[in-house]
Amino acid sequence: MEALLLETPCLVIDSDKMIKNIRRMADVASRNNVRLRPHVKTHKVPRIAQLQLANGAVGITVAKVSEAEVMYAEGIRDIFIAYPLVVESKITRALNLAKHMDLTLAVDSLIGARQLSEVAKRHNQTLNVRLEVDTGLHRTGVKYDEALELAIAVSQLDRLNLTGIYTYRGALLGESPTLDTRAAGFEEGRLMSDLARRMRLAGIDIADVSVGSTPTGAYAAEIDGVTEIRPGTYVFGDRMQVALGSLCLDDCAAYIVTTVVSRPSDDLVIIDGGSKTFATDVQPGVSPLNLKGFGEVLSHGEAVFERMTEEHGMIRVPRDCSISIGDQISIIPNHICSTVNLHNSALLKKNGEFERLEIAARGKLE
Ligand SMILES: Cc1ncc(COP(=O)(O)O)c(C=O)c1O
Repeated sequence: MEALLLETPCLVIDSDKMIKNIRRMADVASRNNVRLRPHVKTHKVPRIAQLQLANGAVGITVAKVSEAEVMYAEGIRDIFIAYPLVVESKITRALNLAKHMDLTLAVDSLIGARQLSEVAKRHNQTLNVRLEVDTGLHRTGVKYDEALELAIAVSQLDRLNLTGIYTYRGALLGESPTLDTRAAGFEEGRLMSDLARRMRLAGIDIADVSVGSTPTGAYAAEIDGVTEIRPGTYVFGDRMQVALGSLCLDDCAAYIVTTVVSRPSDDLVIIDGGSKTFATDVQPGVSPLNLKGFGEVLSHGEAVFERMTEEHGMIRVPRDCSISIGDQISIIPNHICSTVNLHNSALLKKNGEFERLEIAARGKLE
């Protein structure tokens, strides 16, 4: 609980813990001689991206051209947009950025690649692209077995410079979610480094082999041929990453402070944060994480954050629990990235003082 009463609900970032997390991942990258290009989807704050860059990151990863624009406006000059841009207006915005900085785009289809090539040609520019490969998550990404053929086709298109390949799969082994993040990371690294080797044998100059999430990055980085890792959540940590063993609860640098507004019965506490405050995309009780509730109630490990409506959080507590109306309680959410996206600002806590930070790249849909 904070000594000072905060206006709640609010997102708090513990600066010391965040910096420790940033340095720990930078050490992983330098120990394994791979580049670190954090995904800034977790914090969405240019100043935190700059901290990552000052501590060893070579550039950043984003999902949206609008996020790249926010980061560019704050001086960041090496960005990978790890999401296929297939619409002319967005490609044109990317081309505008590419005039002033190192920008790399993603491609996972021939239709998408041709569109990039055509728009780049009209603007008389060349675009750096990486080919996204599906290694089991089944969202974007060319099928693994079709990646070589697509890479050959993409490398022959005008105005595209195919610089590398990348994948995102999180904690998957084969195609199934796993808690064995070591085996998952090794498998991810091997799949991608083998593929890059086959592409090079076919005459394609693949420089970047980019892999790795918070749970798998440290292991994938050990595989020969991997050149870059792109973890995101590590900067703060969350309950999902604690369950995966990526870090411990005490390392988590971001949490939500809420106020108890009602205690309708001995075993129920109501807080002023519901689904407007906490993301609901990582649900309780789903294997293999089997999280209990929607967040870790700090200082009350036995409490279960059972339910939410928009403005209310319902927490089941033991009948003799001393929490009372007006108390502030802090909660580590199941998924911090999508929780941060719900907040306009955060309070950065440093040496007992709070500074308000704008979440400048939140809510960037386009
Ligand atoms: C393309 C891509 N790269 C990297 C990451 C970072 O993963 P994590 O937050 O698990 O570290 C994500 C997360 O969604 C992603 O989509």
